[in-house]
Amino acid sequence: MATINDEIARRRTFAIISHPDAGKTTLTEKLLLYGGAIHVAGAVKSNKIKKTATSDWMEIEKQRGISVATSVMGFDYGDYKINILDTPGHQDFAEDTYRTLTAVDSVIIVVDVAKGVEQQTRKLMEVCRMRNTPVIIFVNKLDREGRDPFDILDELEAELHIGVRPLSWPINIGAKFKGVYNIYEHSLDLFTPDKQKVTERVEIDDLSDERIDAAVGQADADKLREDLELIEGVYPEFDVQAYLDARVAPVFFGSALNTFGVKELLDCFVKIAPSPRPVEALEHTVRPDDPSFSGFVFKIHANMDPNHRSCIAFVKICSGRFERNAPYRHVRLGKTLKFSAPTAFMAQKKSIVDEAYPGDIVGIPDTGNFKIGDTVTGGEELHFRGLPSFSPEMFKYIENTDPMKSKQLDKGIQQLMDEGVAQLFVNQFNGRKIIGTVGQLQFEVIQYRLEHEYGASCRWEPLSLYKACWIESDDAEAMAAFKRRKHQFLALDREGRDVFLADSAYVLQMARTDFPDIRFHFSSEY
Ligand code: G4P
Repeated sequence: MATINDEIARRRTFAIISHPDAGKTTLTEKLLLYGGAIHVAGAVKSNKIKKTATSDWMEIEKQRGISVATSVMGFDYGDYKINILDTPGHQDFAEDTYRTLTAVDSVIIVVDVAKGVEQQTRKLMEVCRMRNTPVIIFVNKLDREGRDPFDILDELEAELHIGVRPLSWPINIGAKFKGVYNIYEHSLDLFTPDKQKVTERVEIDDLSDERIDAAVGQADADKLREDLELIEGVYPEFDVQAYLDARVAPVFFGSALNTFGVKELLDCFVKIAPSPRPVEALEHTVRPDDPSFSGFVFKIHANMDPNHRSCIAFVKICSGRFERNAPYRHVRLGKTLKFSAPTAFMAQKKSIVDEAYPGDIVGIPDTGNFKIGDTVTGGEELHFRGLPSFSPEMFKYIENTDPMKSKQLDKGIQQLMDEGVAQLFVNQFNGRKIIGTVGQLQFEVIQYRLEHEYGASCRWEPLSLYKACWIESDDAEAMAAFKRRKHQFLALDREGRDVFLADSAYVLQMARTDFPDIRFHFSSEY
């Protein structure tokens, strides 16, 4: 019988991140095909909001329904149990993605070979870097014309601030794309531009094998040998530990749409990617093999039914074995709760589970007990760190437009913030409420949901801010002086922490110069 340690060791919990359109959905689907979780391409509904509907909130409502099913996709692949955590496709929901990244043990980044590193990827990589999350990079769309692979490697290194190490190498690109040489396995895979066909593998002994010349032609074979010689000269030998320490990202090349290079990626991934890692709590480090159960809520999914405020709280298991109906402690509320209908997500289906292990995600039906960041344990007082809030990018005042409904509005705002839809700041000077988001769309979603789920109506008033900075200082007097000077620009976040609202980069720079003893942070956990 498998022990808990076996169960931990075989789990791979990760997220695929990319700039919209690089191929995340396509790659996810191909991984599910290999895992036998789905049987035909096209089975995974893209949870991205169509480009044509960038500000259509009805579309978002529809997508919210779909995305419960794809929030966590678990399947077995060989001896491994894989959990893919989906991240929202629309860049306006980056905040959700940030939080999902706190629940994964590693990440696969998809980059479009023609576009290189794009803005969203850069931002998400910053979160990975903060957490030392190991990353593997998949350069996609090699069947299309794109950039020189050496240039792409340089760009990845420079833009993502991480060492890279190619583990496969393309033979040409675009119309002339012939396949990849798999450096990790020393094999040659030939490309057929056909979505139905799987890769044709040519058995070879080593790079000098003439079967390479026969398969791709002498000129391309020579070029491949030259390229690989250069790679071996420039890039140090692949070191798994450097990958696990998040110092080096292995790079694969392929075409997700053509299911090319995907299996090689997956096979390498399961071998080298980390099983659940220890998690920092305020009290101590929690190891996955600690016998007592613990987990934290990283995402809350509100139900579509506006008449019942029922949600699903997504709990990432950090240690011990989770059991259905066992008494667990909800640390923030100081209550003991039993979960009679926890769901696991296997092959896109939700089903009730009796037990789950570190690395797994269980969905707990909830009617308002949970907030993002809550800890659940077998009894211990634990508070997990590492669910930071990041400075929003857009800010607006929220104003009540129906004086009879101010209670509903307050309740609605509070619950949507608990769900992590956006961040609330209260100006300390005038008491006005400010909502901060990562994109315009979220304001529309909030307004719509406040109306439909809480019967409250609101209006937005413009507010031009650059960043919300969490402030701290070891010098109480300096802090007091800063607060006196900037009293109109101070707010409290949800947890009651002081936040400085800087209306421009220049103002922030001046504040830094004038108050050298104050530290300004763009995220709430420093
Ligand atoms: P995303 O989730 O990262 O946003 O990207 P998604 O997988 O939806 O892919 C974006 C577009 O790129 C899709 O085309 C998809 O078919 C295409 N694509 C993905 N991988 C490859 C590849 O390896 N080669 C080529 N040539 N295209 C690829 P679309 O026309 O926007 O959408 P669809 O109508 O095909 O779904």
